[in-house]
This record gives sequence, C-alpha cells and structure tokens, in this order.
Amino acid sequence: MKFEKIQAPKGVREYLPPESKAFEWVREQLISPARLAGYQLMELPVFEDTNLFSRGVGESTDVVSKEMYTFEDRGGRSITLRPEGTAGVMRAVIEQNLDRGQLPVKVWYSGQYFRAERPQAGRYRQFYQVGIEAIGLDDPAIDAEVISIAYTGFKNIGLKNFTLQITSLGDAASRLAHRKDLQKFYKSLDLDEATAVRAEINPLRLFDDKRPEMVAAMENAPLLLDYLSSDAQKNFDMVQSYLKNLGIAFSVNPRMVRGLDYYTGTTFEFVHSDLGAQSGIGGGGRYDGLMELLGGQPLSGIGFGLGVDRALLAAVSENVLPSQAFISDVFLIPIGEEAKTPVLQIAAKLRQARITTEIAFGDRSLKGAMKAADKGGARFVIVVGATEVETGSVDVKRMEDGVITSVKIDQLPREISSLLSGQRS
Ligand code: HAM
Repeated sequence: MKFEKIQAPKGVREYLPPESKAFEWVREQLISPARLAGYQLMELPVFEDTNLFSRGVGESTDVVSKEMYTFEDRGGRSITLRPEGTAGVMRAVIEQNLDRGQLPVKVWYSGQYFRAERPQAGRYRQFYQVGIEAIGLDDPAIDAEVISIAYTGFKNIGLKNFTLQITSLGDAASRLAHRKDLQKFYKSLDLDEATAVRAEINPLRLFDDKRPEMVAAMENAPLLLDYLSSDAQKNFDMVQSYLKNLGIAFSVNPRMVRGLDYYTGTTFEFVHSDLGAQSGIGGGGRYDGLMELLGGQPLSGIGFGLGVDRALLAAVSENVLPSQAFISDVFLIPIGEEAKTPVLQIAAKLRQARITTEIAFGDRSLKGAMKAADKGGARFVIVVGATEVETGSVDVKRMEDGVITSVKIDQLPREISSLLSGQRS
C-alpha cells in the first residue's frame, strides 16, 4: 500500500540544512547585542490564554481581529498561539513577581510566532522573532539603548540597505489632546462601518489604512507629533539626541503606526529597501500602560521584535552571509575498522577545543571520502589508517592550497587551533 505524502501547513517557514546554518547565524547576530547588554533569556509558552492578546495587543488591531490562531483546548479554555512576544513576557513578569525585584527587568527571547496572514515572500503564518523587553524604567536613555541594540544586530549581519524610522506617541496628555482633534477630523470623513468601529477603539489605526482613498483622506489629518506635551517633547528630543551621539541615523516619521495597540512614547521601525511589500525587518517601542492593563502595577516598558526570516532574506539580498562561517574546520577519514576508535577519540579532543570536526563514517574508499570532504568544504582533512595509529602522527592537509603538515596526534588540538587562527587572521 502506498501512503500519500503529507505537506507542511500553508504559509509556515521552516529551515533545513544547508539554509538552516545561515538562519542560525543571522539569529545569533541579532541576539548577541542583547546578551552583551545584560539581557537575560526568557523561554515562554507558545500558547496563552486568548484574553492576554485581545486585551494586551488590542481589539482594533489586524493581529487580534483577523490573524490569531485561536482554539478551544480539551478543558474548554480559549487558547491562542502567540502572535507576538511582548504580552507573554508581561504576563510572566507579573505572574512570577519579577517586577518586585531589581528593575529594570531586562529579558530577550527568540522563537516562533503565529499570525494567520496571507502568505507571501517575507510574510508567513509561522515566523521567527528575536526580541527584548526592558521593564520598569522610564528614561529616554534606555529607549536609545534598546534601539541601538536592534541596530547593532542588523549591523552585525552586515546589512546596509536599511533605515530607522522613529516617532513618539507621547504621554497620556498628548494622546488625549490629539485624539479629540483626530476624532473630530475622522467624523467628517465618510468611513465604512468596519473602519469606523476600528477608529472608535483606536483612531490612530486610520493612519495605517493602506487603501489609496484612505491615504488621501488622511493627508490633512492632525498628527500626534504636533500635540506632544512639553514633557513628551523633551523626552523625544532626548531620545533623538542620544541616537545622534551614538551615530545612529534615523528619520522621524510622524505617520508611522505600529500594528499593536499597546504603544506609547517612543516607537520605531527598521525598514529594508530590498524586501518589497514586507519591508519591516524589526520594530518596537514603549508601552507604558501594558502592565497595568494586564493586572500588574503601573510600570513602564520598552522593547522590540526583529524578524529573523526577513533579516535572513535581507542578508541574502545584500550578499553578506559569511559562507566561511558555515563549514567544518576538520574532516577526519578513518581507513579500516581499527582506525575508527582513534578517530572518535581525536574528534572528541578537537571538539573539546571548540574545533568543528566531522568524521567520514561508513567504509568509503579514500577517494570517496576525500570527495565528500571537498564537497563539505572542510578547511583541513586528516586521513587516519593503521600507520598513523602506529606512529602516533598524522598528515594535516590544508584544502585551500594542498599544503601538508605532519602533526603528532596528541598535539592536534593545539596545532589545528594555531593553523586556524593563522588562516582566519
Ligand atoms: P511587530 O512589528 O508586529 O512587533 O513584529 C516585529 C517584526 O516581526 C516585524 O518587523 C517583522 O520583521 C516580523 N514579522 C511580523 N509578522 C511577520 C510575518 N507574518 N512573517 C514574517 N515576519 C513577520 C511585535 O511583534 C512587537 N511584539 C515588538 C515589540 C517588542 N514591541 C515592544 N516590544
């Protein structure tokens, strides 16, 4: 009987070798600046109580109103696959009382997120993010630090064709003043029912409406940046001044609207010019009311989420993936059964010295094994047979130029390390 093949669900992104190496490398470049800044890992469930997102992310958003994977579990609870990371972090911080300890709480995370969007290049139903959150400190300097961590991640990859856009959603007084005028303005427009409902919950959503007639209608809409209270303006000026002094180029985009409702104060987006419609490679901002909204104390917070899939697409487009980082240092070829134990031992020692080492398993001919080594792109190849085991010495062949160095087996980790550092410098 022949079984039908099963395919991955529509729109999911998965990474298999050899591409997964590049994915892993890109993700690591995005994470490492957060680690260097003292952010600590938080591993959270991929599913949560649906209320966490409907309340935290907001009913007016596409994410909550159209894109959530929501289902009833076997106990009759409404569960949702996480569409983003911030609400879950906040839930955990409140639940585990992290906000009662040292502030700010600084965490990073990385994983799969789920949005039932229409799949296209760079937009997936399961995608990957790296994110950070800094909770409990209201200081424009940390806003600049958070932005600079994201910026450094993209720079680590080697990306150049991206820009940073920032704006401020001000404080409560600024938003209240603006909302009044914006409401007056949009009431003069002829909105369809769904749009009017969305505007009622969050009128800023109207700036996010991509339909040409709405873009035109919003041309003369009052902009929140013109309503900043003097405190909020001072705060935003400080953020800009810190960024300038860090040498981070940005532009102020007063019409930028993030897709999630919890934002306040500084908000930002990184946009890559090679990615067409899905150009947002990362974004974030301050969310000063979120903790309280989720039942915690009124602490402020700021963070970002970076799209690993899109950062990888950008890296491919800019041709900045360092192919050298993806190949093994050493390829060991045992000849005959009696060489297998020594080769396993040599490999263990080399790996202990953090040298990436592969073994040509399976009794291939020397020619076949050399071919495999060549194809794999290993830097050095070592053949181990009865003679090598007996003499305790091997020939290390540098594949780049065929140069052979004779090395004592017990000296291999040291010798290979120095050969490698010579090659890398
Ligand atoms: P977001 O802008 O919704 O923010 O998502 C962050 C990044 O995730 C986007 O810039 C994009 O690169 C990537 N992304 C989003 N949706 C998709 C998709 N369907 N396919 C591929 N990539 C996607 C947040 O999620 C906030 N939680 C960020 C944040 C953290 N704000 C404060 N703290």
